[in-house]
Amino acid sequence: MADLSVDLGFRTLKSPLIAASGTFGYGEEFLPFFDLDILGGVIMKGIFREPRPGNPPPRLHETPAGLLNSIGLAGPGSEKLQESIRRLRARTPVPIIVNVCGEDDDEFVAVAETFSAMAEVAMLELNISCPNVRQGGACPAQDAGHTARLVGRVKERIRKPLIVKLSPNVGDIVGVALAAQDAGADALSLVNTFLGLAVDIDARRPVFANIYAGLSGPAIKPLALRLVREVCRKAYVPVIGIGGISSGRDVLEYILVGAAAVQIGTINFREPAAALRITNEIEAEMERLKIGNLSEIRGQLQT
Ligand SMILES: Cc1cc2nc3c(=O)[nH]c(=O)nc-3n(C[C@H](O)[C@H](O)[C@H](O)COP(=O)(O)O)c2cc1C
Repeated sequence: MADLSVDLGFRTLKSPLIAASGTFGYGEEFLPFFDLDILGGVIMKGIFREPRPGNPPPRLHETPAGLLNSIGLAGPGSEKLQESIRRLRARTPVPIIVNVCGEDDDEFVAVAETFSAMAEVAMLELNISCPNVRQGGACPAQDAGHTARLVGRVKERIRKPLIVKLSPNVGDIVGVALAAQDAGADALSLVNTFLGLAVDIDARRPVFANIYAGLSGPAIKPLALRLVREVCRKAYVPVIGIGGISSGRDVLEYILVGAAAVQIGTINFREPAAALRITNEIEAEMERLKIGNLSEIRGQLQT
């Protein structure tokens, strides 16, 4: 049998597959479909301190090979999420990861502290792609200096491993990745959604009230794979690859370019038990290619 475990340095996961934030609810919704404990982890939808209604509809728009979303980080607020996490923990031992958001840096730090204090939480993922509402609307991920300051402040106040999730909508993602790493990130995850635009020709208006929306799904896989490779070539902390993964073969592609683990997002909407199928496919591919553990091929892309 193939050994699916992956070593992140600070923690070993039983599988390279992690459910991506915003695409797996709060975990409980997926309990009827498969045993979540086959996963390396489950990431909660992004959370702010207070409840948020999110953006007006429409919030989703399908494209030929992807999904545009403009959810606006709707959510129940920190207190309610703590209850959801306790309920999920009572039903499965899968590692729970909290996707931390903030409308400004102080809020990021406060939310991170709250969930770092919870025994049920394994790690935090810092969603630095949130627009900084109280600081001009830019997100920390767009600026290496801002990323470094924020990651440094959060790291100082928490006692859990910190994954920093990068945005692809920047000029120099490697610069931001290294800034996060040098400021204390234990791992990097990439990518979040790519900004895109959908147009309604009858109304002569953008489909979304916010004009732009985030593209995910198979359409972004080649773009994300390139960015993951670029970051893996320069970073020494483990990288978690995200973008368009929908098969075991896709997972092996990310591992070959250097990822230590991966997240699956949009596929969970189309196929709620996708993680189970993909796990079986990874095992089958490993047996076919005579790989005992994925570390044997990690970063082994021949160029
Ligand atoms: C509907 C939706 C909601 C999302 N919400 C979040 C979120 O709250 N926090 C976050 O960091 N990423 C969020 N993402 C981004 C995903 O976690 C992931 O990075 C992205 O979808 C790319 O992976 P995929 O192509 O496998 O879907 C969301 C994506 C979608 C489609």
